[in-house]
This record gives sequence, structure tokens and C-alpha cells, in this order.
Amino acid sequence: MDRFFIRGGKPLAGGILIGGAKNAALPIMACALLTSETLSLRNVPRIVDIHTMHDLIQQHGLQISIDKDDPHHFTFEGEITNSEAPYHIVSKMRASILVLGPLLARCGKARVSLPGGCAIGTRPVNLHLEALTALGAEIEIDSGYINAKAPKGLVGTRFVFPFVSVGATENTIMAACLAKGKTELVNAAREPEICDLVDCLRSMGANIQGKGTGDLIIEGVDALHGAEHSILFDRIECGTYACAAGITGGELRLIGAQSQYLGAVIHALEECGVEVFQEENALRVRRTGSLRGIDIMTEPYPGFPTDMQAQFMALLSVSEGASMISETIFENRFMHVPELNRMGARINVHGSSAIIRGVHSLSGAPVMATDLRASFSLILAGLAAAGETRLNRVYHLDRGYEAVEKKLTACGAQIERIKS
Ligand code: UD1
Repeated sequence: MDRFFIRGGKPLAGGILIGGAKNAALPIMACALLTSETLSLRNVPRIVDIHTMHDLIQQHGLQISIDKDDPHHFTFEGEITNSEAPYHIVSKMRASILVLGPLLARCGKARVSLPGGCAIGTRPVNLHLEALTALGAEIEIDSGYINAKAPKGLVGTRFVFPFVSVGATENTIMAACLAKGKTELVNAAREPEICDLVDCLRSMGANIQGKGTGDLIIEGVDALHGAEHSILFDRIECGTYACAAGITGGELRLIGAQSQYLGAVIHALEECGVEVFQEENALRVRRTGSLRGIDIMTEPYPGFPTDMQAQFMALLSVSEGASMISETIFENRFMHVPELNRMGARINVHGSSAIIRGVHSLSGAPVMATDLRASFSLILAGLAAAGETRLNRVYHLDRGYEAVEKKLTACGAQIERIKS
């Protein structure tokens, strides 16, 4: 297992190219299963979760080629030959469940391994199954697999999500595009990645109204055609590097990022004392003064994203005064707290809230990554800490961040990957 050695204390300065959004690319890759024509995707990030989705779609029968001159350009073509998503792939990545809606809509049947729980919570998939059942699917759970069938095809309906789910909204939108008649989704998730999915589906010929709202109307069509689409920038990668500028007291240009999708994150950065400016094709982020503690509550978009919670925890651990973070999306998303405390942070967890008492400085220590975003919070702490931090289990990070050590080193960080 690879490790990172980080020597902290240097303010970062320079430009970082922000890649395509993992959480947009994963459902959009699953759209390749919705057509027999060619889907060409640009700006696909080269990270482990994308390789996993690549392998999953390939084993369903599609051919996938990656451009030699542009490794972020993927082309999908061919027919589905197998509608089963096996345990050995789904267990690596929960987002594999996103093939369920497309397979069911195209093949009239699908067998998809149930994803288990994960480090940040139990993460059930009941809403995915309830929404697909409302569209007419017959679903049974058998031997750890979801067996779904709709031999006469899916039929449009009105479905009200009892609470907001990003993945269930995506699965249902994809399935409804090929259902007979009109589907209305109420209390749908509104994340920018869902808007990107809708844009891609529309360019494939889908008829979807209400993009960016909680009410989506989808008129089913007989077939979707091929399309070209470029994946939206990754707002979480952008927010993460913005925290790196903030915690090190540096200045970064985050190239390709747009402030319009980062409202709650930029508001929180500015409240903390980190300045953010939109330039033509970049966000400039810098800190010149001291950091101030703030209170944050995670919420579905447009609220503050749970995927930025761990990174802000690192930032707030060296901010003046007390801060509180309330996590409302996942029940077990404070695994980074004991590791940050080992580096000198003063954080107490009470149920779904954490109280952070800002300290003057952190000190490097050996720490362990527990999940994707938690890993980066430890890197951020390591970049600000005095001395050396050794981060173990870097594979969590490689699932969602491309070329971390290259991007940080180019801005003056001392970070080295030790391969094992
Ligand atoms: C997606 C993102 C993830 C992000 C999360 C919340 C991808 C690939 N992943 O995950 O990075 O942290 O949104 O913004 O896009 N729930 C149920 N039943 C369901 C579905 C969800 O109870 O059927 C619960 C979950 O356990 C969680 C909450 O609903 O507590 C929100 O989860 P959801 O929005 O579905 O997250 P994901 O789509 O898994």
C-alpha cells in the first residue's frame, strides 16, 4: 500500500488544473448503457473509481477506447451482452449501483450485487429500488443480489423522494428516459453533477424538463442516440485545493473552476478569512490574514457539501476560536477526527456534531486515511503542520483525486509518494 510523506509549513503558490468531476463522470459513463450508438466523453478524470466503472461497463459488453493523445477522452460503443453487475466489482465502489436503472431500461432485466455499507455510513439503496419499482420494475433481493425485471418495459409515473438522494435521483432519471410516457420526480437532488447528467442525456435525445430544480419531468423516448459530452469540473477537488491555499496561508489559481457551483463553500471560506476571486477561467484563492472559526452544517446542494466537511475540519482546527460542524447526510463521517487530534487538533464529537477548538499549530505524525475525503483532510493538516506527516492507506485518496502529489509539488508542497 502506497504512503505519502509530507513536510509541512510551506505556503502553496501557483496554478492547479481542476479535473472533471468524479461524481458527474460516474453516472454519465453509465449512460453509455442507454444507447447502441457511440458515446464520446471528454474531461473524464483518471482516478481509480473511473477505472472501476470502466471495468464494470466493459464487462457488460461495451468496447471502451481511451484516446492516446488525450487520456481524459473515453469512447463507448457496442451492445450490452451481460446484464449482471458482479459482487467483485460492486463491492469496490458503491456507485456501481448506477448501472441498475440503465440496464433495466435497456434490457428489461438486471442483476446487480447489493453494495454493502461503507466507512462513512450504512448507505442503503432502498430509494433506488422504490423509485424503480414505481416505474414498474419487479425487484427481489436474492443471495446478496438485486434481481430486477420489467419484461414489458418501464412505465412513467410520479415519484416523490421522501428525502434527497443524489444516486437514487440519477438512477431514476436514466431509467425514466426510456420508460413509456411521462415521469415526474418530486424532491429530486439538484447537485450540479445531476445537471451535467441531464445535459448529457439531452444531447443523447432525452426529453427532460426542470434541470437544476427539485421537480423533474421526463418524457420517455423509444431510443437514445450517440453524443459527445465534456464532463463538468470537479467542484469538490476545487474546494479541497482552496482549503490547501487557506490552511497554508498561500495563493492558488484553480484553473477551470467556476464560482457558480461553489456558493456555500466560497461563503464558508470567506467567513473563515480566505479570499476567493473569480477570474476568466479560474478561481483565485488566497489567505493573507489569520483564520477565524465558523459553524457549518452539511446539506444537500445548494447547501454546504458533506464531501467538503473533512477538509474544512482540518482548516478549522487551526482557526482562531471555536467552530462547530454538524453532519446531517452521513451518520459516521467523523473518522478523520481522531487522526487530526493525533496531530494536535482539539476536536470533540457529540453525536452528529463536532466542536473544534482552534489551536495555534499542528505537528506532523503518522496517520491513517479512512475514506476518500478524510484522506485529504489529513494531507491538508500535514501541509500546515510542523515536521513530517506519514499518511498510510493512500489508496482511498487515489479513488477520487488525480495526480495529487504532482499538483501539490508544482505549487511548492513537499509531498512524496512511497510505493510499496
Ligand atoms: C453521492 C456522492 C457522494 C456524496 C453524496 C451526498 C456520487 C458517486 N457520490 O453519494 O460523494 O457524499 O452523494 O452528497 O455521486 N440514502 C438512503 N437510501 C437510499 C439512498 C440514500 O437512505 O436509497 C441515504 C444515504 O445513506 C445518505 C443520504 O441518503 O445518508 C444521501 O445519500 P445519497 O445522496 O444517495 O448519496 P450517494 O448518491 O450515495
